[in-house]
Amino acid sequence: MPLSVWDLFLAFLVYFPAFAANGSAVFVRKGTPVDFNRRAWDGRRVLGDGKTFEGLLVSITLGTTVGVILASFLGPELILYGFVGSLFGMLGDMCGAFIKRRMGLERGAKAPILDQLDFVVCATLGLYLVGYHVNLLGFLFVAVMAFVMHVLTNRVAYRLKLKSVPW
Ligand code: CTP
Ligand code: MG
Repeated sequence: MPLSVWDLFLAFLVYFPAFAANGSAVFVRKGTPVDFNRRAWDGRRVLGDGKTFEGLLVSITLGTTVGVILASFLGPELILYGFVGSLFGMLGDMCGAFIKRRMGLERGAKAPILDQLDFVVCATLGLYLVGYHVNLLGFLFVAVMAFVMHVLTNRVAYRLKLKSVPW
């Protein structure tokens, strides 16, 4: 599968709304927890205070808006990709939190790989369902970019005092 740099960049742009969504939730400092404060069978929170309805609303709205902007350059399908990528990305972020809580990790604790890739994997699934089939090289490129951007944005959020830990 010969892939040009442009193809990789296009794959990145399709995922960009999901990146924007994931990175914007941090601006929501407080809200109603998606798990309504409930605990799971292990006595720990189902998801924890870091996953709120407000966070979902802000991130999916922003991700979709980014998709609308990209659509004017790349075509109307970017609106759907933006919405679905953001929605599934944020669902993946909650799956990651669920797994972290079951591992006994508190909100905000570090979970390398899981923290960076939970939303990429789920966004890939959602995008696949609506007809965007990324190939392996494109996926790997996006995954590496997710890793780099996660580290950078979290450091910035920490500096801006939006997050209490730099990861
Ligand atoms: N956030 C939110 N709602 C979401 C996702 C994120 O309100 N659905 C906000 C929370 O304030 C969260 C911050 O964005 O603390 C950063 O998100 P993330 O790094 O994913 O959460 P963590 O604090 O690391 O919590 P967890 O360990 O559960 O991933
Ligand atoms: Mg986190």
